[in-house]
Amino acid sequence: MNSITNDQNIQEWSSVSNEIIENFGDQGDFYRKHQLNPAILSLLTDVRGKIILDAGSGTGYLARLLAKEGAYVTGIEPATNLYNYAVLQEKKEPLGITYLQEDLSAWKPIPNTFDMVVSNMVFMDIPDYQSAIRNCVASLKQNGVFVFSFLHPCFEEDIDWRKQQYVSTKEYFEEYAVKQFAGHFFHRTLSSYINLIAENSCYIEKMIEPQLSKEIVDKYPQQERSHHVPLFLVIRAKKN
Ligand SMILES: C[S@@+](CC[C@H](N)C(=O)[O-])C[C@H]1O[C@@H](n2cnc3c(N)ncnc32)[C@H](O)[C@@H]1O
Repeated sequence: MNSITNDQNIQEWSSVSNEIIENFGDQGDFYRKHQLNPAILSLLTDVRGKIILDAGSGTGYLARLLAKEGAYVTGIEPATNLYNYAVLQEKKEPLGITYLQEDLSAWKPIPNTFDMVVSNMVFMDIPDYQSAIRNCVASLKQNGVFVFSFLHPCFEEDIDWRKQQYVSTKEYFEEYAVKQFAGHFFHRTLSSYINLIAENSCYIEKMIEPQLSKEIVDKYPQQERSHHVPLFLVIRAKKN
């Protein structure tokens, strides 16, 4: 188990530099542009006119993409610098997005509000992920769609494929914290996420393990790993 609290990890996320935030881009970083966004958008299908929560919205890039497609978006982000940046973008270019500065685990959702909840690379960054997921499901309408991505728990080791052409794993069954460029992520088993979804009246409709195409790898050879072993898992579930 880990001893890091939600507040500590949010504080660590709050110290991400302005330079990183400003350079993140309209479509997010390389991984988002080439792997996560295509998978998430294909699982959400048509978002026009839908009421959507972006849970753990970071810079708000995905909230903005969805709003530009005609969705009514609310973003929840607890880290002050990221929240402020997203609010500022909304002031500069109003898209009708509402941002709330909240910890997803402590948030008190109004039940049955959203048609869709999307959470991109967030739950593995939350110590109390169970409460966060429960709150997201509670905020969904019946038959609402829940799309979330996270580091693939089986293959999350950070390696340079050109030096080590395999991904290793050990102590898979333990929960532990791993330091990352901002805050920590928490390794947990795949079943801990899947069973939690099932216990919260959701069933999985589809999942995608994004694979980087050969064409992209030819352009970005340092990303070859994602052509052979998935780094992410993206799940679409529906609330019963
Ligand atoms: C890897 S970033 C992803 C951000 C955004 N979804 C994206 O794809 O760019 C993880 C995000 O989770 C947020 N986060 C960390 N703890 C959280 C919590 N308890 N509740 C909500 N969000 C949290 C961080 O502040 C950060 O914005």
